[in-house]
Amino acid sequence: MTDTAVITGATSGLGAEFARQLAERGHNVVLTARNLERLEAKAAELSARYKVKATVLPADLATPEGVEAVAARVAQPDVGILVNNAGYGLKNDFHNNTAQAELDNLNVLVSAPLLVSHAAVNSMLARGGGRIINVASVAGFVPRGTYSAAKAWVISFSRWANLHYSSRGISVTALCPGFVHTEFHERMQMDKSPFPGWMWLDAERVVREGLTDAFAGKSVCIPSKRYKVLAAFGRRGPQALVARVAARGR
Ligand SMILES: NC(=O)c1ccc[n+]([C@@H]2O[C@H](COP(=O)([O-])OP(=O)(O)OC[C@H]3O[C@@H](n4cnc5c(N)ncnc54)[C@H](OP(=O)(O)O)[C@@H]3O)[C@@H](O)[C@H]2O)c1
Repeated sequence: MTDTAVITGATSGLGAEFARQLAERGHNVVLTARNLERLEAKAAELSARYKVKATVLPADLATPEGVEAVAARVAQPDVGILVNNAGYGLKNDFHNNTAQAELDNLNVLVSAPLLVSHAAVNSMLARGGGRIINVASVAGFVPRGTYSAAKAWVISFSRWANLHYSSRGISVTALCPGFVHTEFHERMQMDKSPFPGWMWLDAERVVREGLTDAFAGKSVCIPSKRYKVLAAFGRRGPQALVARVAARGR
């Protein structure tokens, strides 16, 4: 039986593309996000196009109930693939955001992947294996606000979990893209125009490279050569300079 894949944030951008590529590979998919109408439209499209079972699970991952609902679905024995993808950025600097807005963002970017991965790892250990993909960002390699800090957690967690659980058949991969054309920047009202074309990647490529590296059992995937180089600079360059360069992007 083909593993079912659960994808969070599956209504647009990278999550929608993960759902499409996994359905194309023959996996049944469980799509989760907040917007039920968009979820149902996406599920209908995928089941008609790829002849797989596509179901929806509306959930707000900033809330304990939303996270519990997704964790409960992930704990079912048919689930062999989990993509923790849902996420967003905050428009303002840390001190200009309310503390609640920062906490909600941290819950979606960190607490939700932690709790859903906890359910997935327990279930995958019992079924003898599985794959978890955590969508992080190259921002996780540079000091740039709480978004970078959250993504750094995702990368560090994935590195450790991949080492720790690979001998028991579970791979955990942090996918670290640079700028990707999705709804992300519009949602946070960010002006995309200062960033040149070469800095932008397509979701199709990012997801394809992410799935290749995840199925190869890698702990970190940085799509494209240009971003591999930039991430190496972020990790090894002088931190004051890295912070100055990083301050120009998100
Ligand atoms: N685009 C980039 O340049 C870029 C670069 C590096 C990393 N990333 C990361 O990639 C991931 C996907 O982002 P994207 O670029 O594909 O953005 P996107 O097009 O805005 O998609 C975000 C998805 O997350 C869902 N979502 C947002 N808040 C949620 C919540 N509270 N609960 C449940 N679902 C929620 C949205 O659906 P609903 O609104 O219906 O809930 C949507 O499906 C994020 O983790 C982001 O940090 C993006």
